[in-house]
Amino acid sequence: MTQPENSLQDRLGRPLRDLRISVTDRCNFRCVYCMPRTVFGAGFRFLPRRELLTFEEIARVARVAVRLGVRKIRLTGGEPLLRSNLEELVALLAALPGLEDLALTTNGSLLTPARARALYAAGLRRVNISLDALDDATFATVNGVGYPVRRVLAAVEAADAAGLRPVKINMVVKRGLTDQAVEAMAARFRHTPHILRFIEFMDVGTANGWDPAGVVPSQEILERIHRRWPLEPVAGPRLGMVAARYRYRDGAGEIGFISSVSQPFCSGCTRLRLSPEGRLYTCLFGSAGTDLRTPLRSGADDTALTSLLSGVWRDRTDRYSEERAAAPRRERVEMFRIGG
Ligand code: GTP
Ligand code: 5AD
Ligand code: SF4
Ligand code: SF4
Repeated sequence: MTQPENSLQDRLGRPLRDLRISVTDRCNFRCVYCMPRTVFGAGFRFLPRRELLTFEEIARVARVAVRLGVRKIRLTGGEPLLRSNLEELVALLAALPGLEDLALTTNGSLLTPARARALYAAGLRRVNISLDALDDATFATVNGVGYPVRRVLAAVEAADAAGLRPVKINMVVKRGLTDQAVEAMAARFRHTPHILRFIEFMDVGTANGWDPAGVVPSQEILERIHRRWPLEPVAGPRLGMVAARYRYRDGAGEIGFISSVSQPFCSGCTRLRLSPEGRLYTCLFGSAGTDLRTPLRSGADDTALTSLLSGVWRDRTDRYSEERAAAPRRERVEMFRIGG
């Protein structure tokens, strides 16, 4: 990672390196750990279109952020591919000088071969796709809309074929729900170029009925897999990374563990988040964020935006996952508004 000219740091000495942009709060899935359908039913109101930042507004914020040190941008949602003409935003972002990585996190349902090729052509370079099980019964229970596994697997292949590599597969492990699928998932993605990542069920938002009993510590999964297929850690930089990386000793590829509950990684957290309506969050577990849309729509110039962003980052003290046990229960933004 090249060092940006300036060294903007938060109050805990962490540099700004990543921007996660949520382009919509809408999703066509109702995952139990994110937007359970019991809470987000037909009557739920998403943000009206005029409240969303336009692509030009998003690109302006991104340009300022890249000047302040951001090297990696990830588009998320909700489901980001529900935002029409997303390729236009990708092209605006891909043109930012100094950006080194442009990626997307998606449920895969709209990632056809043609869409994958169009995204690549616009400048997208990587995608992470969520898939929690390989049997339709379990996956339907998780995604809440009966979406079939084979169509997500087709999206994985479409992404890979379009050059969006390596594809990472995000599997949320929840005890009693998906933990029985761990070995089958590992077996399915061994000997492929795709990287399977096991994610501990997190207490994001306030609607997913989180309970510590639902968390399967990564160490437990690691041991289960290691017994069948011996693993070894992959050395690499930890700053800014969420996943601990391992490879199969027999050469069958790589997997990762995202252990926000059992092994928090806040000390290396270099991520800033932008919500669809233009609020800046310095933590996935933030509550209110900082409004950028008002200044954007009332003529703030780049200097004013720069001092707003850098002020927010300099004041940052977030380390929610490290404080989890002691943290008071307070209002928290929902995952689908802030993009994970
Ligand atoms: P890569 O750059 O490919 O490693 O992507 P990523 O893992 O940073 O992004 P992705 O959207 O695939 O996120 C995977 C999981 O990590 C999701 O469950 C996210 O919610 C979680 N995650 C990402 N960033 C953070 C973070 O800053 N804090 C916590 N607690 N979880 C995070
Ligand atoms: N805990 C852990 N991961 C979650 N995701 C959504 N909700 C949760 C949760 N409560 C994951 C999705 C997706 C990524 C962006 O976040 O499965 O892969
Ligand atoms: Fe949609 Fe992703 Fe949330 Fe599932 S986890 S409901 S696919 S935003
Ligand atoms: Fe960063 Fe907050 Fe996640 Fe910690 S809990 S890694 S500070 S986003």
